[in-house]
Amino acid sequence: MGFRKDFLWGGAVAANQVEGAWNVDGKGLSVADVARLKTTARNNYRQQVAINSSEISKAIADPTSNNYPKRRGIDMYHHFQEDIKLFAGMGFKVFRFSIAWTRLFPTGEEKTPNAAGLHYYHRFIAELRKYHIEPLITLSHYEMPLSLAVKYNGWANKRVIDDFVRFAQVCFDNFPEVKYWLTFNEIDSVTRHPFTSAGIVPDKSNNLLQDEFQALHNQFVASSMVTKLCHQMIPHSMIGCMLTKLTTYPATAKPIDILAAFNKNTMNYFCSDVQVKGYYPPLIRQYFKHNSIHLDVTKRELALIANNTVDFVSFSYYMSLLTASDKSGLELTSGNTIVGGKNPYLPTTDWGWTIDPVGLRLSLLQLFDRYHKPLFVAENGVGATDQLNSDGSINDEYRINYFRQHFREMKKAVNNGVDLLGYTSWAPIDLVSASTSQMSKRYGFIYVDLDDHGRGTNKRYKKDSYYWYRDVILSNGEKL
Ligand code: BG6
Repeated sequence: MGFRKDFLWGGAVAANQVEGAWNVDGKGLSVADVARLKTTARNNYRQQVAINSSEISKAIADPTSNNYPKRRGIDMYHHFQEDIKLFAGMGFKVFRFSIAWTRLFPTGEEKTPNAAGLHYYHRFIAELRKYHIEPLITLSHYEMPLSLAVKYNGWANKRVIDDFVRFAQVCFDNFPEVKYWLTFNEIDSVTRHPFTSAGIVPDKSNNLLQDEFQALHNQFVASSMVTKLCHQMIPHSMIGCMLTKLTTYPATAKPIDILAAFNKNTMNYFCSDVQVKGYYPPLIRQYFKHNSIHLDVTKRELALIANNTVDFVSFSYYMSLLTASDKSGLELTSGNTIVGGKNPYLPTTDWGWTIDPVGLRLSLLQLFDRYHKPLFVAENGVGATDQLNSDGSINDEYRINYFRQHFREMKKAVNNGVDLLGYTSWAPIDLVSASTSQMSKRYGFIYVDLDDHGRGTNKRYKKDSYYWYRDVILSNGEKL
């Protein structure tokens, strides 16, 4: 009973939230490099992710990182040896990170990769290997080349598929010793934040909903091509999909509310259904009909999707929400790029996200029951305000409690028969928030002394949770 012997404990980050060095060694601009700091939009994710063409032009013309925190990140680009050493100090078995597409292909359209970008990731992976930490690489984590977004409206245009496959091929070719790969981070998020997730500039779309689903289809095709390539080029590898697991409960036991929750959850599963089962589920086809969505889909693409399904299912899990048939009575709260009904039985974080450890167990059971594939918790964690004490300590008991409760439930799911490969916390080190671009929304076991405006020493400090997670890993989840 308990976690498998070779359970992959570790942490996860995305290049655009940590690396900084946005214009160093030939890197091009990505969609993340034009995301502004949104400190006032704590509970409004639509405001957090909103962007338009004129803001993008303004950002392109701005040569600084003053208003664009993801350009500076935590400067992991120049601190990775120190950071990896700290991860090794916690006993990490795995580290999930993304390869920034724009370090290898600055505009996305070059035919050959930027050698300096490749050199960086060779050094990064060698450093992980030094400590026997297995890389888990996300190929696309909210960092599409900006040029592809501006020129072609991102993934809404089929022509970017080949650009992405060329990028993936270069990654497989250069890093054949990497066993675990993911294609698109939280692929389902295209319909919630189309620019960050798929490079779609909303004011460039005549029919945004249609473009979002076309972008998803194009990503499914790219994902299947890349899965095929990965299997051919690295035969011992495993490549997975990645879903935002947005667990939704009915607000009451009224059948009509249960139906509303069923519909929400079914939509949430749609992308992983396609990537795991290899076909569009019938209910989504009805949804397309009802919403007059007409996709450009060929037989060849459907065959690719059918023949190249993923090896495992990874997902992020942070919170759960309520829904109802009549939403007018619901008290709302925010969640991971979503707003929904607040569950009166659950506490919330400083950013309004519910804390629901049992929801993680439920999610694991639901996903395993649905797909019968190995699972991987690729993200889970709590964004909170931390206090750095004058002696350099950070007492983050609330973070320890969050993880402790989630690990207890995760263990129960494993004991119920779920095949769980590993767990990577989001995030092991403080980083720039994806939605708000804040540093003050802190996730790490390691504190980084930077504020929302990039002021501070950028020094790293171990929080109390650092030592606690180290013991969890050392005991393979027994000492919680
Ligand atoms: C996930 C993303 O949605 O949630 C991460 O994959 C993100 O990139 C994480 O950082 C937490 O969200 P946020 O908005 O608090 O950074």
